[in-house]
Amino acid sequence: MKVSPATPETIREAARAIRAGGVVVVPTETVYGLGADALNPAAVARIFEIKGRPLDNPLIVHVATVEQARTLVAAWPKEASLLTAGFWPGPLTLVLPKAAFVPSVTTAGLDTVAVRMPAHPVMQALIAEAKTPIAAPSANPFMGLSPTRVEHLDPELASEADLILDGGPCEVGLESTVIDVSGPAPRLLRPGMIGREAIERTLGQSIEAGGEGGHKSPGSYPRHYSPRTPLKVVRDLGERPGLTFGSVRGAHQIQMPAEPEAYAAALYNALHTLDRLGLDRIYAEETPEGPQWSAPRDRLAKAAGG
Ligand code: TXA
Ligand code: MG
Repeated sequence: MKVSPATPETIREAARAIRAGGVVVVPTETVYGLGADALNPAAVARIFEIKGRPLDNPLIVHVATVEQARTLVAAWPKEASLLTAGFWPGPLTLVLPKAAFVPSVTTAGLDTVAVRMPAHPVMQALIAEAKTPIAAPSANPFMGLSPTRVEHLDPELASEADLILDGGPCEVGLESTVIDVSGPAPRLLRPGMIGREAIERTLGQSIEAGGEGGHKSPGSYPRHYSPRTPLKVVRDLGERPGLTFGSVRGAHQIQMPAEPEAYAAALYNALHTLDRLGLDRIYAEETPEGPQWSAPRDRLAKAAGG
């Protein structure tokens, strides 16, 4: 693995690689991404190939500024102004009508584009330096567990990347909230650590949960975000291997934080760690109820196969 600690010099090198049509593993505050020039169809096609991702699952385009996001879209509704003022830079992705010049491979042929301004300083510097928006899915093989540290990277995927920028552990630890504001009413397509309630307060209206009713939410497979080891959600871990809220009582148990933000930040690292042990099954104690837990709960359910 060609892992480079992120420095001004390696960020410049990564920007050159992006401009030359390369694919780079990039840190963001949510999870690591597999990035390429969003406006270069051949570079974007390589992302799909390296990930083994079906071409009908669109990518998120990362931008350094709100102005750059506006160049990528055909309309900028008032919801986009409210949400970007409230939550950017940060772990919120907006789906908007796409500008014609955005390559269709990037958006999987949809007439919408997903845009996000990440908060991670390395990713911000990289996009600015590359002078082009960067398309990046999570840097895991299709259906796998997202990496939140470079040590989590799948060796085969990592060997295909032109460069790997190490920006340390991801602070948020779960993928961004995705909200579709391209239609008549905003829809939540993927829960994240920016919760539905905070979004509703910012918009001054309630939002629908998406994915159903024929509305396009291409990445919402019932099984996703999965370790290779089968995972089961249980009420009480007992002495089985896995994630507990209580104290450790058996081998291969990890005590998880009781606060949702800290739990989210620790979750994928804990699952990657247990996944390496070759266990028959990993168990995870169900999270508390409550809106703050909806994203961790969603990812556990998906890791367990829906
Ligand atoms: O936090 C994140 O969002 C990370 C980091 C790297 O930014 N990225 C990420 O990308 O999780 P990915 O590709 O693993 O997930 C993107 C999700 C998928 O479920 C995809 O279907 C959805 O966003 N998406 C992308 N473009 C869309 C569009 N035009 N309409 C609806 N959903 C879209
Ligand atoms: Mg992903």
